[in-house]
Amino acid sequence: MRLEGKVAIITGAANGLGLEAARVFLKEGAKVALVDYDATLGEQRTGELQAEGEAAFYQVDVSNQAMVVEMVSMVKERFGKIDILINNAGITKDNMLLKMSGEDFQKVMDVNVNGVFNCTQAVVPYMLENGKGKIINTSSVSGVYGNVGQTNYAASKAAVVGMTKSWAKEFGRKNINVNAVAPGFVDTNMVATVPEKVIQSLLQVIPLQRLGKPSDIANAYLYLASDESDYVNGTVLHVDGGIMM
Ligand code: CAA
Ligand code: NAI
Repeated sequence: MRLEGKVAIITGAANGLGLEAARVFLKEGAKVALVDYDATLGEQRTGELQAEGEAAFYQVDVSNQAMVVEMVSMVKERFGKIDILINNAGITKDNMLLKMSGEDFQKVMDVNVNGVFNCTQAVVPYMLENGKGKIINTSSVSGVYGNVGQTNYAASKAAVVGMTKSWAKEFGRKNINVNAVAPGFVDTNMVATVPEKVIQSLLQVIPLQRLGKPSDIANAYLYLASDESDYVNGTVLHVDGGIMM
């Protein structure tokens, strides 16, 4: 039980990497607040997970600051404290630069950047109260190295790295560790939109010759959320099969 007695908020938890993280965290003894803007899927998946441990669902759009503040205070009231925040919610709106609308650029920034800002700003006061905390932000191989068709997304995920390092410096002395995970291409709905020819060319440059599995990322979140990573701060953990080195 690597997270025994810990309380975790996981955003984007109705699906993909966030859902797998919720499953792994519950198995490791955490109480989990699953946050997502998809209420139907979120309620359903949380109901299924309740057999594994204490889980509650909150319908929140992370880009809406007022909703985030309310959710965080409800989680604190229900579970008594907040130990871990996984800023996992994220979206893509891929297009070549010359076809990308300003609206699609902004939407991706609203969720992937403002969402991370909103959740972290709301949670940190409770971690300060606790005297300890773990914040894990989800970046991407695209944010570190760039990617064709992902001007908006790559910019947002690079911003996540900048926020991670700033907060690691700002809150280290308060015993709050802030780290990022930069996944490569992982088999979820997000990657299902990538054209097959692009997937085939990716597989040729991934030394492990496969896409990631959601559990590959959930296990990285677990390490950074557990006490085992207490001296890890401000790092960007690449979990990408070695696609970029
Ligand atoms: N690498 C190199 N070249 C690429 C490319 C890539 N990843 N993606 C597209 N291209 C090339 C195409 O081969 C094409 O070349 P030609 O003009 O020589 O034929 C050119 O760019 C234009 O591509 P399309 O014909 O596909 O143009 P489109 O306007 O129909 O579509 C697109 C553009 C929406 C960006 C589409 O190409 C696409 O979806 N590409 C994949 C983008 C991608 O990798 N997204 C990752 C999503 S998963 C994710 O984001 C998770 C994560 O963090 C990694
Ligand atoms: P997904 O699309 O399967 O799941 C994302 C979840 O986030 C969905 O349940 C969705 O409803 C929720 N969500 C989206 N916008 C939201 C908002 N504004 N408020 C609340 N919830 C919201 O995506 P996946 O693959 O699980 O991605 C999770 C994170 O990992 C994202 O930040 C993504 O950018 C990142 N990532 C994913 C990679 C991949 O290959 N799948 C690679 C690198 C990073």
